[in-house]
Amino acid sequence: MQDLDELRKKIDKAVAEIKSSKNLHEMRMKFLGKSGEISALMKQMKDLPPEERPKTGKLINAIREWAEKRFDSYEKELKAIELNQKYEQEKIDVTLPGIRNKKGSYHPDTLVINELVNIFAGMGFEIFEGPEIENDYYNFTALNTPKDHPARDMQDTFYLSGDLLLRTQTSAGQIRVMENKKPPIKILSPGKVYRSDDDATHSPMFSQMEGLVVDKGITLCDLKGMLDEFARKIFGEGVKTRLRPSYFPFTEPSVEVDVSCFECGGKGCRLCKGTGWIEVLGAGMVNRRVLEGCGIDADEYTGFAFGMGIERIAMLKYGINNMKLLFDGDVKFLKQFKG
Ligand code: PHE
Repeated sequence: MQDLDELRKKIDKAVAEIKSSKNLHEMRMKFLGKSGEISALMKQMKDLPPEERPKTGKLINAIREWAEKRFDSYEKELKAIELNQKYEQEKIDVTLPGIRNKKGSYHPDTLVINELVNIFAGMGFEIFEGPEIENDYYNFTALNTPKDHPARDMQDTFYLSGDLLLRTQTSAGQIRVMENKKPPIKILSPGKVYRSDDDATHSPMFSQMEGLVVDKGITLCDLKGMLDEFARKIFGEGVKTRLRPSYFPFTEPSVEVDVSCFECGGKGCRLCKGTGWIEVLGAGMVNRRVLEGCGIDADEYTGFAFGMGIERIAMLKYGINNMKLLFDGDVKFLKQFKG
């Protein structure tokens, strides 16, 4: 009798200390399981004199029933608490504002490149991208600019080891195309170029867009016509072009191309420095020495090439007054541009 009383107290105390339904289950096994303490008491019954057994059996059963109820009701209580805790943890405040995904925006260079590619693709140009690390031959020699040529000074070059350099102009790609493709050729070649130059209007890395057309009967008039179309599309209807004589070793004749000022319509303003014209690119008829060097018969085929600085076009088009803004990566500045 005393043992049973002790056991009841023990169970009461143990249950009161338990804080989770998992531990409660372990405790229930300890007392009520097959090899638990109550079962052990039952097993001891055989040591009692037979006349005492029924009475003791009843008492043990009573305590078992009591214990089961005790565990059941406490388990319910704990499970309810645990469920509430779970709800609390997983609670979502549906009134909180959502997290907005920030949309990126294209860099002005990319916008200009995409626009140029669209314009020229519409005229049947294909895209060719040459390597940024070039060798001396493609960047200079094959472009009629041998080692001692003074025109090399126009492009302060980053030389790498041996014969390698960072290309100073996308014109290097012209040679790669002409070596591998027979005319008719009509390619557009965007890409980064490098020059050892760094001031308010020059950056050691910038982007260019090169164009090359080679076919039978191509003349300077074709170049002019194509440039007119390009100027209207990129700067607006009514914009005209003019050619001024210039010099590049790989074109003959060579021209500097101006567009009529799209800000003042040619009257003269701050943007065009009062001249009514803005210089946008270099171009010319492909020098026959360059064609011949690539195995193209210069008596049968002629061509024109042009090359423009993407940053310059972007600055003009978007009214950006400092080129450094295009290289700083300042998101506040960059996100103003939408494609
Ligand atoms: N490659 C020249 C430059 O970087 C531009 C150019 C390209 C001129 C094609 C003529 C023809 O200055």
